Amino acid sequence: MEKVKLTISDIFRMKEEKRKITAVTAYDYPTALLADKAGIEIILVGDTCSMVVLGYDSTIPITMDEMIHHCKAVKRGVKRSLIVGDMPFMSFNVGKEDAIRNAGRFIKEGGCDAVKLEGGVVMRDTVKAIVDAGIPVMGHVGLTPQTATFFSGYKVRGKEAVEAMRIIRDAEALEDSGVFLIVLESITTEVTRMIADKVKVPLIGIGAGPDCDGQVLVLHDLLGLFDRFVPRFVKRYANLNEEILKALETYREEVQKGIFPADQHCYHMDKSEFEKLQESIKKK
Ligand code: KIV
Repeated sequence: MEKVKLTISDIFRMKEEKRKITAVTAYDYPTALLADKAGIEIILVGDTCSMVVLGYDSTIPITMDEMIHHCKAVKRGVKRSLIVGDMPFMSFNVGKEDAIRNAGRFIKEGGCDAVKLEGGVVMRDTVKAIVDAGIPVMGHVGLTPQTATFFSGYKVRGKEAVEAMRIIRDAEALEDSGVFLIVLESITTEVTRMIADKVKVPLIGIGAGPDCDGQVLVLHDLLGLFDRFVPRFVKRYANLNEEILKALETYREEVQKGIFPADQHCYHMDKSEFEKLQESIKKK
């Protein structure tokens, strides 16, 4: 895989050429390194970090400073993928100036190439202000976890015509504001198809069916590292929870039984140096 840094134009070209775009979340150096090496085009430093890494119950508590800390680690592992920093709750909701300043921190301090924020029609002016400041923005509509409880919780969106229409309007508003890509989360495939017919920017789905230009999954779901709940749209490609638990239990047992460390894990003195040492000890 060639290690030339991807740009937003490359993402547009993939859509034009009908090549599927892949995206995954990452929150630290080792997983960013692997996602980049695997050829994933977009690495999202998602605010899901709040739950899958920091152990909070929702995405609400994570702060700007915590997000920047994780973005910096991801940046150090990435050569090719586009890095997108997810704007945490209340980092873009207070006012346009505040939103631009915080988006700027993702670029200047976090080393990101773009930011993502949740919301459609209501975020139209904020998105436009950030884009006008020279920062690429990724939109996010459908189920938006930061405000999920304000609406109908973590249920799929777009089952009823009125709500479906609202999601379509949200996607259109984001396109008008200048986003370069839209994440569609937990919506019916019928609504995805209608959005795909209406908007030109690439669509990345997470629980939005196959008619998107690409897919995104939360890394810890994909790897089986987070099992507090597993949404229907998740496909597990590994079960690292089981693997890691097995490894840790075996390590504990081997230490307790004296199996680890074995001779191959130990350092030794040269024989002559050891003899010198024995002589010196005798003379004392
Ligand atoms: O924070 C995140 O991981 C996300 C994905 C669910 C797209 O926003």
